[in-house]
Amino acid sequence: MIYLKTAEETEKMRAAADLTSRTLGEVARWIKPGVTTQKLDAIAREYILDNGGRPACLGYQGFPGTLCIEVNETVVHGFPGPYVLEEGDIVGTDLVVELDGYNGDSCYTFPVGEIDEKVKRLLETTLASLGHGIDAAQEGKRVGDISNAVQTFCERRGYSVVREMCGHGIGRDMHESPEVPNYGRRGIGPLLRDGMCICIEPMINMGSKNIVIERDGWTCRTRDRKPSAHFEHTLLISGARPEVLTTFRYIEDVLGDRAVRPLTDIETDR
Ligand code: MF3
Ligand code: CO
Repeated sequence: MIYLKTAEETEKMRAAADLTSRTLGEVARWIKPGVTTQKLDAIAREYILDNGGRPACLGYQGFPGTLCIEVNETVVHGFPGPYVLEEGDIVGTDLVVELDGYNGDSCYTFPVGEIDEKVKRLLETTLASLGHGIDAAQEGKRVGDISNAVQTFCERRGYSVVREMCGHGIGRDMHESPEVPNYGRRGIGPLLRDGMCICIEPMINMGSKNIVIERDGWTCRTRDRKPSAHFEHTLLISGARPEVLTTFRYIEDVLGDRAVRPLTDIETDR
């Protein structure tokens, strides 16, 4: 069952998404070598509670954090903890915030200090692929058009697409129908209709696409332990151009020229 949002619900989705984005902007201020991932988690939790929201991941099927923490080879669903960020790491912070009964969901992968050029390129490619997925999210097209846009952009540049984890519908529940895979064929899957809210979240690996789940039952990492990147936006299908409800603007204001830039086609052969 795919729920189309009413105008009233759309307004609530905008507010939840904005709080999600602003929270990641607060997290951005703390990204530097020497900071623990549990500190990032505490910053996010306090900011959400101060602003009347609820950290939706905390306690979800027993998940122990506000943020999912994704350091280097961690793909998704890592726990916040005592790990101290080091120069050269990348760290994804994936966040769902519930506000007034509706959910916003966004993820940004931060460089910690100076990072390897090849890892930087992985981040730029993954961010750009999110943009291409958004461009494909047009009323009257199908989920497969989004999936294919993400997949082809990344695979053509030599990266691999995680298969087991997908984007998703969102609304009253953090995960609603439809599933939004990051791989697939054009023209297949559910029809995109005005009023649908979906999350697009490419999870892109530098090495092979294979993943393993750690013994904690949650932490998902690459099998080859090469890095993985993850960016996510919540959006509303609306004619030829979706309304992107979350934004990285707050993060970019903090990071300035350290923000990840989406790879442009012209740079592909750099
Ligand atoms: N933000 C994740 C997603 O994009 C969901 C987090 S799963 C949780 O789907 F269990 F940690 F909540
Ligand atoms: Co999501």
